Amino acid sequence: MDILVATGNKNKIKELSQIMPEHRFLTPADLNIEYDYDETGTTYCENALGKALCLHKLVGKPVLAEDSGLSVPALNGDPGIYSARYGLKEGLKLNDAEKNAYLLKNMEAIKDRRAFFVCSMVLVMNEYRYFVVQETMEGEIALAPAGNNGFGYDPVLYIPASGKTVAQMCDDEKNALSHRGKAGRKMKLIIESLAKELD
Ligand code: IMP
Repeated sequence: MDILVATGNKNKIKELSQIMPEHRFLTPADLNIEYDYDETGTTYCENALGKALCLHKLVGKPVLAEDSGLSVPALNGDPGIYSARYGLKEGLKLNDAEKNAYLLKNMEAIKDRRAFFVCSMVLVMNEYRYFVVQETMEGEIALAPAGNNGFGYDPVLYIPASGKTVAQMCDDEKNALSHRGKAGRKMKLIIESLAKELD
């Protein structure tokens, strides 16, 4: 099935395609649709729903969206919904490696290093009908970045049960354990249950 996703993030599309290989995930750019959503929500779920509804309004068809990030309880949930823009509030424009370094600096004096990747995934059928799944991947903020796979904060989330950071995992291992993998596999069941309406 072709599924339109409200994102421009190639890493998300790559992982969704690995998690649900039976579907083809298309972006607004693939369909030459100009789409931009200003994230104004206060939760992952609000932002995921906002992205999906915004694109649905443009195309009038079902849309999948997700909002994700890294939440650290000891930092009051930061970077959280601001994960992609971490540092911007302080006037810093950081790339992924710099965001990881900034996070490690902010964690220096902190003992409680628990952290969660969160993925809120929404399938909007129409303005009044949508399905939401939100999942997590629990770990600890590493003392230093490690690994080269994945993207974003993968090098700094250490998963004790695996003995490695997410960036030290191969794609299959990450997808089996990740917030996006868990949410995607549940969303897959919802998509299958709606197959006739999505065709
Ligand atoms: P969004 O596009 O607003 O959902 O921003 C998501 C941001 O959260 C990304 O730019 C990454 O910084 C971070 N993030 C989300 N999922 C992952 C992941 O699986 N690994 C590492 N970082 C992630």
